[in-house]
Amino acid sequence: MTTLETRDRKAEHIDLALEERIQLRAHFFEEYYFDHQALPEIDLAELDVSVSFLGKQLRAPLLISCMTGGTGEATRINRNLARAAEECGIAIGVGSQRKAIEDASMVPSFQVRDVAPTVPLLANLGAVQLNYGFGLDECRAAVEMIEADALVFHLNPLQEALQPEGQCDFRNLIEQMGEIAARLEVPVIAKEIGCGIAGGTARRLKEAGISIIDSAGLGGTSWARIEARRAADVDIGELFADWGVATPRSIRELRAVGGLTVIGSGGVRTGVDVAKAIALGADLVGMAQPFLETANQSAELTVEKCRRTVRELKIAMFCAGAIDVPALGRVELRRRPRG
Ligand code: FNR
Repeated sequence: MTTLETRDRKAEHIDLALEERIQLRAHFFEEYYFDHQALPEIDLAELDVSVSFLGKQLRAPLLISCMTGGTGEATRINRNLARAAEECGIAIGVGSQRKAIEDASMVPSFQVRDVAPTVPLLANLGAVQLNYGFGLDECRAAVEMIEADALVFHLNPLQEALQPEGQCDFRNLIEQMGEIAARLEVPVIAKEIGCGIAGGTARRLKEAGISIIDSAGLGGTSWARIEARRAADVDIGELFADWGVATPRSIRELRAVGGLTVIGSGGVRTGVDVAKAIALGADLVGMAQPFLETANQSAELTVEKCRRTVRELKIAMFCAGAIDVPALGRVELRRRPRG
């Protein structure tokens, strides 16, 4: 595959992800609600939404999920995202760095440390690359390229299977990811990209030595729809659009494994969703597409989206009677009976 093809693919991913029709809009979070506390017995002004992640203090339990890099457009978007992350004191990841490892001209589009000097910054590679020539050296290179605090391996079997150019040899990846985790200088995180991670997979990842897992579950951006559109086969996209583990269930299953740092993401769109994700068991909550939309316009709009999300989260916490993030994690969420 040529470099030009990858550049085009990244640009296509951005354009398609911004289309309304690509979103699953499954509203899995709407099945859950908080018991309203008419007397929360706390002062909204003293609510504390800070958390620590990768040894750094965040001002809110938020992550701008891994998205992009490579194209000129991605450079601008990554810099807007990174500026906003620093301004708001939240974590941020970059998109797959695979092509930047193979083609140095793409490296600068991922390098945002200059505008995000203090927040946790996550490097990103597809786990499947470990079966296509990548090893510890390439993982180290991805981390060093952006001065990252951790390396994210994304797990994307459905996306690869739907891509005409997909890489589909997913054999022995857990063991190889475990070996990287044991030798890399920074922690390794495993995430899906919109189909979720079930408890059984999480348990095997934990046994292999990976203790930070991001659900990236079903409910928001649909990669089945994106790749099907690229392949001009909308039918297969719709057939697989609802394939996966819904985000709330994935978060619950990851939490039930025990001993994991759980990142909840996939279809999180508001601060109320963030509150629900935490009550379901997430330590930190990620959003991709909503921040892509704002960062495609400006860093300021991205800051605004972050501030608004934090405000919504705080109001939800106040009315649920939770003074801080650990307290929110202990609140019992109700589930509406399916009608
Ligand atoms: C992504 N996502 C992603 N994830 C990853 O680990 N590596 C990547 O390179 C990308 N690339 C990417 C590009 C674009 C344009 C989008 C919108 C997303 C997946 C992302 O991190 C997230 O898991 C999913 O998008 C689900 O979250 P949302 O969008 O429903 O909040």
